[in-house]
Amino acid sequence: MYIGVDYYPEQWPRERWETDLQMMKELGINVIRIAEFGWSLMEPEEGTFDFTLYDEAIKRMHSYGFDVVLGTPTATPPAWLIEKYPEVLPVDDHGHVISFGARRHYTVNSEVYQLLSKRIVTEMAKRYGQHPAVIGWQVDNEYGHEKSDRSYGDIDQTAFQSWLKEKYDSLDALNERWGTVFWSQTYTRWSQIPVPRKVYQEHNPSLLLDFDRFCAEMYNRYNRMQVEVLRTFIPERQFITHNFVYTGLAQDQKEMAKDLDFISFDNYPVWGGLADPISPAAIARQHDLCRGTKNGKGYWVMEELSGAQGWSQIGYNPRPGHLKLWTYQAISRGAEAIVYFRWRAARYGTEQFCHGILDHDGKPRRKYDEVKEVIDSLSGFADEWIASDYKADVAFYHDPENEWAWQIQPHSDQFEYVKEYLRFYEPAHSLNTQANIIRDDEDLSRYKVVVVPIYFLTKKRFNDQLKDYVKNGGTVVFSYRTGVKDEDNVVTEETLPGDLAEMCGIEVPEYESLRADKSSHVNGQAGVLEGLSSDGEVWSDYIETTTADVLATYEDSWFQDKAAITKNNYGQGTVYYIGSGVESAMIRKLYTSIFQEAGVRSSETPEKVELVWRESSDQTYLAVLNHDVEESHKISLPEGEWSENSTGNSYSGELMIPRLGSMVLVKQK
Ligand code: GAL
Repeated sequence: MYIGVDYYPEQWPRERWETDLQMMKELGINVIRIAEFGWSLMEPEEGTFDFTLYDEAIKRMHSYGFDVVLGTPTATPPAWLIEKYPEVLPVDDHGHVISFGARRHYTVNSEVYQLLSKRIVTEMAKRYGQHPAVIGWQVDNEYGHEKSDRSYGDIDQTAFQSWLKEKYDSLDALNERWGTVFWSQTYTRWSQIPVPRKVYQEHNPSLLLDFDRFCAEMYNRYNRMQVEVLRTFIPERQFITHNFVYTGLAQDQKEMAKDLDFISFDNYPVWGGLADPISPAAIARQHDLCRGTKNGKGYWVMEELSGAQGWSQIGYNPRPGHLKLWTYQAISRGAEAIVYFRWRAARYGTEQFCHGILDHDGKPRRKYDEVKEVIDSLSGFADEWIASDYKADVAFYHDPENEWAWQIQPHSDQFEYVKEYLRFYEPAHSLNTQANIIRDDEDLSRYKVVVVPIYFLTKKRFNDQLKDYVKNGGTVVFSYRTGVKDEDNVVTEETLPGDLAEMCGIEVPEYESLRADKSSHVNGQAGVLEGLSSDGEVWSDYIETTTADVLATYEDSWFQDKAAITKNNYGQGTVYYIGSGVESAMIRKLYTSIFQEAGVRSSETPEKVELVWRESSDQTYLAVLNHDVEESHKISLPEGEWSENSTGNSYSGELMIPRLGSMVLVKQK
């Protein structure tokens, strides 16, 4: 297994390199990622190349036996480039040019930038493609991050217009599908179509969604250009990857991943300004997204946080145990390599307070010791653990286009896509259910339950897949606001939930957006929900049943007779509909019975204790992860004799797991 660090040799005097490499060797790492922000060193003036610093750094790393991953440096176009080609700079939605001075200050639609990128990547690939220490490449750094996903300049507008022409072929088709008759927006020439800069009110939602699709696709093309250059010069043994973030950007990771050997991910459970780490379920969801991006293929964590992070605001300092816990969580959910960010905190520049394994004074202390403990605990074991399979009985649907549609029209000041997604994901996570996050390109029949949360922007193809799946005995769970839009971001003319109404056995003739300080009140009426009550946030679908059974109703003097949660038999299968943003406890109760009925493995553990299973032909692996910073917890182990990988200790029955404790238990089959 690869375990390594992100290192910036250019930020330290050469005399220090030896000390660093020596310490890394003692730590036990085997890979180092470098160079992703080093353009001004490699090409100090246009067309003049100087690789001395990286030649020397790689040579020394190689002499210590480290493998090296090289980043292409295109996230940081140098000052000379911007001075000479200011048109490369992106433009925000107010029409303001984003200044030089930080990073990611380029638009992928600039042809000049494409050429300049091609040139530096070509030179790098020629230089290091044959180097024995270089095992692979990270293209650019976190595409689209820090608001760099959308650019609204004139160059972007022209590119958007050409993209639309390719997509729609005729203006009549575009006018028809976008409904431009509304507010007199009919376009008679392609050049009239705007990029969505500020208007007094709001743009046409169909234009906005296409703009996001366009932004994502232009990044894919830009990435493909770099990948093609690399492939021309590098041998097959060197991989190509990119480090994604999954924060609702106008990026389609799954499409981009088709051009990559595997994907990478930057795992920051806590960042600048956050007082506490995000929830275990929120971290798990990101790992599940990573695993789903290439349909189950393992991925690298190219940046795994090792210390408190931040620019002008500094976030929570991970406590002793967090590093190991987050590393184990990542591997258990599909990561095949872990690279810690960063080796040492920089003394200058924007990221002075992005702490690393070492802090500013460069002395190895507790974080160094903790990484060492992780490496020791994994040695001789990690490869077999990684080679085992993460098996999932449940699928969660997620499509970035649906997320963009929600960003365009969040409906309520209480709606936040990830928060609402987690409303339906977290209860399954808390039951330790194994789940994959999928798109519409998977065979649903391999899953016992498919959860389709906040399915606002629908796709006909996926609707049909869902219908077949349920007819053949599958179980689907929908939430509020299902079936509203078609792929053009146009509202259906069928009664909601539109194309899915029949399979749900319901109609939603009326609904309500619940803003701050408004809530619904939902009472369970049947089955496991009987006697349970919950407040609901964000949304209420006031449901009338056609063939479905009512599981819960609203307590409301006006909508008293309307259903809030329903269950319908459709073909051989079952469809649930949760019409309001009810509390986790109610969803969890419902899932418990759904999972039981469908034969999905789930297990109760104390809150914040996460179990993740992996299987090989002869062994079962169980990661036990206590995310609780304050309390130890007792859990009941699944039947059998379990042994811990790192200590060889045996356990059965009950197990006490200390606060922030993490362990991997193994059982023979
Ligand atoms: C990541 C980025 C790194 C560094 C880090 C700071 O998003 O890829 O270059 O900025 O955050 O925490």
